[in-house]
Amino acid sequence: MVSDSELNVVVVGLGYIGLPTAAVIARTGAKVLGIDVSEHVVETVNSGKVHIEEVDLDGLVSGVVARGYLRAATQIEPADVFVIAVPTPFADDHAPNIGYVLRAATTIATVLKAGDVVILESTSPVGTTEKVRDLLVQLRPDLRVPGRTGESADVAIAYCPERVLPGRILVELIDNDRVIGGITPRCARKALQFYRRFVRGACVTTTSRAAEMTKLTENAFRDVNIAFANELSRVADTMEVDVWEVIRLANRHPRVNILSPGPGVGGHCIAVDPWFLVHADPANTPLIRTAREVNDAKIDYVVERAEAMVAANPGVTVACLGLAFKANIDDFRESPALKVATALAQRFGDRLCVVEPYTDRLPAAFDGTGARLADIDTAIETCGIMIVLVDHDVFKSVPVDERADKLVYDTRGIWPDQPRVPARIEPMRLAG
Ligand SMILES: NC(=O)c1ccc[n+]([C@@H]2O[C@H](COP(=O)([O-])OP(=O)(O)OC[C@H]3O[C@@H](n4cnc5c(N)ncnc54)[C@H](O)[C@@H]3O)[C@@H](O)[C@H]2O)c1
Repeated sequence: MVSDSELNVVVVGLGYIGLPTAAVIARTGAKVLGIDVSEHVVETVNSGKVHIEEVDLDGLVSGVVARGYLRAATQIEPADVFVIAVPTPFADDHAPNIGYVLRAATTIATVLKAGDVVILESTSPVGTTEKVRDLLVQLRPDLRVPGRTGESADVAIAYCPERVLPGRILVELIDNDRVIGGITPRCARKALQFYRRFVRGACVTTTSRAAEMTKLTENAFRDVNIAFANELSRVADTMEVDVWEVIRLANRHPRVNILSPGPGVGGHCIAVDPWFLVHADPANTPLIRTAREVNDAKIDYVVERAEAMVAANPGVTVACLGLAFKANIDDFRESPALKVATALAQRFGDRLCVVEPYTDRLPAAFDGTGARLADIDTAIETCGIMIVLVDHDVFKSVPVDERADKLVYDTRGIWPDQPRVPARIEPMRLAG
């Protein structure tokens, strides 16, 4: 790889992963070009601003853009290292869609030269990095590619999954351990050299297939364990027991560590990636599939209970607290909170206000429902029913005396001191 001061890096896809990654690499003194198909994203980044909410990202991006280390464009240019961070969604039948990855690789092929390193970071089904390699073989027969020409390949191709936590991306990009999977060991070593520029965590090398499966395994592990907590929460409701207390007590066992239930599982990762394993081997993934189904069904369960609660209290105004898929972020993708709030809005629109400090307008799904966006103070003043859907810090900090007279459905367990209401929904009515 070329010396530090001359390194040119292209990051394809400037979203939640690509933009922070591009900015962190630019901070090391490399010249980074971020490519995105969205003109809006390109213009925003080139003006030193950010189009996504992430702690400290705005300051970092404005600094590296001002110093000339990061710029954005819709057209690719030659570089030494190419990092792909485009979406990998699934289709209606849960089949993974690697079309964005292959399109990114097609773009890279136009400028690829001997000595370059191509790294896929998008969460991908096992075998995707090899498909990228096969595509490059087809598009660039003039280059010797790894795994097809032994160790004497002209370019290196590797897979390195991202495992950052939204809200802590800039810290975790540097501190987390990285798994770097090469098409060949030489590819892994080349990619390792690149990550050592900015990663403080351990960088462990392996094959691209093992690295791809590792990422999917991590998210399937989280999903299965959250499904256990969500299933428990339903049993606890039936038994009229406080699930949060049971989990707290059970976790005093030295070898038990139950996760927190919620209104379902959302986001671009945990709610999506386990399907990549199920789709690849349906016969051998009954547990992973069931966990996905349990977590999806929790959303309908919450909607049903919340609707019963609202219907049992005619005329009472309702606050839905939160739309994001997890605490303290502005990401609403696959968000169970958004699904619950829109279901309630469709039925009880004009009685509903939504509190979401991470947006200044309600998503289009609320159009025509009559639901309105409010701040937490207005909601406390005007709403008799509060449905907690996201554990944003601002909600957690509402003191008990400000909500003592409310009827609360706390799907995140953020208010353990809330005066108890009967666990069953049917008789849940406001006193008087
Ligand atoms: N967001 C997370 O917290 C997270 C965590 C770990 C892994 N991942 C994975 O990282 C990948 C990217 O996720 P994200 O959240 O950054 O997605 P995102 O939707 O925020 O960003 C993707 C960007 O890529 C752009 N894009 C799409 N196709 C393109 C192309 N052919 N050329 C150039 N730009 C293109 C889009 O316009 C968008 O700006 C996904 O595979 C995701 O599963 C995400």
